[in-house]
Amino acid sequence: MKNPFSHSGVVTGEAFCNRSQELKDLIYHAKNSQNVLLYSHRRMGKTSLIHQLMRKLDKQRPKVKSIYIDLYGSLDVKDFIEAVFSGIAQIETKLEKLLKLVSGLRLQGNLDPMTGQPSVSVTLAQPDRSTYLNETMKALARYSTKRKLLVVFDEFQEINNYSFQGFEKRLRSEIQTHSNIAYIFSGSQKHILTQMFNTADRAFYQMATSYPLKRIKLEDYVKWATAIFKKRDTELDESIAIDVVERCDYHPMYIQQFLFELWQNTDLNPGVISTTEMKILARRENEFMILWDSLTTNQRKALRLLSITGGQGVYNAEILHKFGFNSGSILKRALTSLISREIVTKNKVYHIHDAMLKKWVLNNFYR
Ligand SMILES: Nc1ncnc2c1ncn2[C@@H]1O[C@H](COP(=O)(O)OP(=O)(O)OP(=O)(O)O)[C@@H](O)[C@H]1O
Ligand SMILES: [Mg+2]
Repeated sequence: MKNPFSHSGVVTGEAFCNRSQELKDLIYHAKNSQNVLLYSHRRMGKTSLIHQLMRKLDKQRPKVKSIYIDLYGSLDVKDFIEAVFSGIAQIETKLEKLLKLVSGLRLQGNLDPMTGQPSVSVTLAQPDRSTYLNETMKALARYSTKRKLLVVFDEFQEINNYSFQGFEKRLRSEIQTHSNIAYIFSGSQKHILTQMFNTADRAFYQMATSYPLKRIKLEDYVKWATAIFKKRDTELDESIAIDVVERCDYHPMYIQQFLFELWQNTDLNPGVISTTEMKILARRENEFMILWDSLTTNQRKALRLLSITGGQGVYNAEILHKFGFNSGSILKRALTSLISREIVTKNKVYHIHDAMLKKWVLNNFYR
């Protein structure tokens, strides 16, 4: 039996755990053409959820067609237009038809050799003409005249870096007329995204309902993992499944990685878990070392402090002293910069986001 777990890229089908409430909510929004701002910290499962949603919508009657637009790495309006047309190419295979949609645009269709997905490159006949964006969005809207459409902009925060004057305003002015399209704006940089959607003087103010993606519940993980092992007639003890989820701090990517490794063992004793953890840590070691080298001394001290205290009482004088901080404000500055690099998160307490990085810091630097 093929290993059902997968820790690289998007997971769908059996490898996808639960998220039934989220799917229900997002299907409802899609069917009612309501826009959603979907956000979470990195690697918490946004893109996988979106793909699972698209599969489900495809099975609905009447069908809701989906267009997935990945804005990761896009630098300006030309990249944006290319990404939109690559998205349209997912539902329109006739390139000639696409070509007619915007005058003055030259399109060239390609198939990504890695993913097999269509991609489109665009040449703008008059690069300084400002209406390409409007026409592109109108072309997109044309596909929604006969049926409902879901359009996903993944990594939407990227548009924040475009230099094109008035990009957000122009985009908003088109989107707000698309009454048969539900948009999902998705991304991980919460502060940038919430500023875009929750600040009154920004173009996207109140353009979408906020939908923070929460972590998957312990019992859902356990039910899902044990059921998959059962299919192979292997008993994955509940206590082992719980141990895996807790060691991974509920991070779906690490949980997949753990289960992927565990699948290769027939004897699932608790000892196997520690060995697996060491294996996963060893694989990430280089990456962690590079990250560590890029940090200032105070940032390193702050990570060490968090790995040991778990974020409790960090400004306590004794703790500050123990970890070599002369004042709380120095620690605060270090933590703020770690948050902006998405290494540390703050809910009620400060927290090292990556569960394995936290372990690595703990293992290597506690003296
Ligand atoms: N519902 C799920 N069930 C099981 N595993 C999941 C689930 N969602 C995500 N994963 C695991 O987590 C990994 C990261 O998921 P995904 O790429 O969807 O997250 P993301 O939030 O889009 O990340 P990024 O912020 O980097 O774009 C996947 O490769 C997969 O291993
Ligand atoms: Mg993603």
